[in-house]
Amino acid sequence: MWNFDDIQQKALQEIDACRDLDEAEALRVKYLGRKGLLPEIFASLSQASPEEKPLIGKGANQLRARITEALEGIKKRVQEETFDPTQRIDVTLPGVAPVLGHKHILTQIIDDICQIFVGLGFVVQEGPEMETEFHNFSALNIPVDHPSRDAFDTFYLESKDPGNPGRHLLLRSHTSPGQICIMEKYAPPLAVVIPGKVYRPDAVDASHSFMFYQIEGLLVDEHVKFSDLKGLLTVFCKRFFGEEIIMRFRPHFFPFTEPSAEVDISCYICKGKGCSVCGRKGWLEILGCGMVNPKVFSAVNYPKGKYTGLAFGLGVERMAMLKYGIHDIRIFFENDNRFLNQF
Ligand code: DAH
Repeated sequence: MWNFDDIQQKALQEIDACRDLDEAEALRVKYLGRKGLLPEIFASLSQASPEEKPLIGKGANQLRARITEALEGIKKRVQEETFDPTQRIDVTLPGVAPVLGHKHILTQIIDDICQIFVGLGFVVQEGPEMETEFHNFSALNIPVDHPSRDAFDTFYLESKDPGNPGRHLLLRSHTSPGQICIMEKYAPPLAVVIPGKVYRPDAVDASHSFMFYQIEGLLVDEHVKFSDLKGLLTVFCKRFFGEEIIMRFRPHFFPFTEPSAEVDISCYICKGKGCSVCGRKGWLEILGCGMVNPKVFSAVNYPKGKYTGLAFGLGVERMAMLKYGIHDIRIFFENDNRFLNQF
């Protein structure tokens, strides 16, 4: 018969004295391994008397459970004791911050301007950058011999349909063809702003770029008046540039509006006294506008005489340059983070 108390006491003492995982493993083999003590005890059951059998079985099971438990405990302790603190993650180290991007200053300006008009009931729409001559010029009452149609002033694309000269394609030179796209699609009343890129084959310098952004505005309904145009653009300028801004409407000519005007704001540098930024005029031109020419309505087959409308177009870079005192348009497109991160 086995003396289970003695065996257990000795085994637990040995286990308790372990100093590393190798020693613990050796003891596991000694007691629980295939040729260890426990299998030997179980093997002895076959020779045991019927009275001894249950006692041996019970004692062996208990012994196995206690040794297993003690070995687990010692493994844990040894692991904790031999833990190398230099391998631990140091949560006090400064982290590597991911570089967060943000909207480009021009996108911010476009968003700001569109948001002002959305607040006044306008809807934001976009038109194609590749346009027909009809949309870009003819439907806007720009005559065939107008200089802006010249290849010096407009990027023409190779036409897939040379037999149809009226359908020559080009990169839009302004966002005004967006007006035509909208009116061909929707009947009045409508109020839209159309932001987007426009292209002109200009030599690049501090105030010219072959690509820049415009925002077009169009409102058509019955009984739209010039005073609506003035009121709308006054609210817009004050919201964008600040309440204190002074503005004026100056008569001008555009083929697609009649009457037409340009809007100036008082120079932000000299406050109207005259300086080098405003060319000593005290005023800065910010946009073109007018009442939609009835010829434009007939180009989109709106019923004659039923509707009136107002339209305006502004340059986004120019608005950004005026608002922030930026003197060179090229800086918007150079991807220099020292500039872009300021906005
Ligand atoms: N399309 C004109 C340009 O690029 C800007 C413009 C002026 C748009 C008057 C308008 C407008 O809608 O009414 O110079």
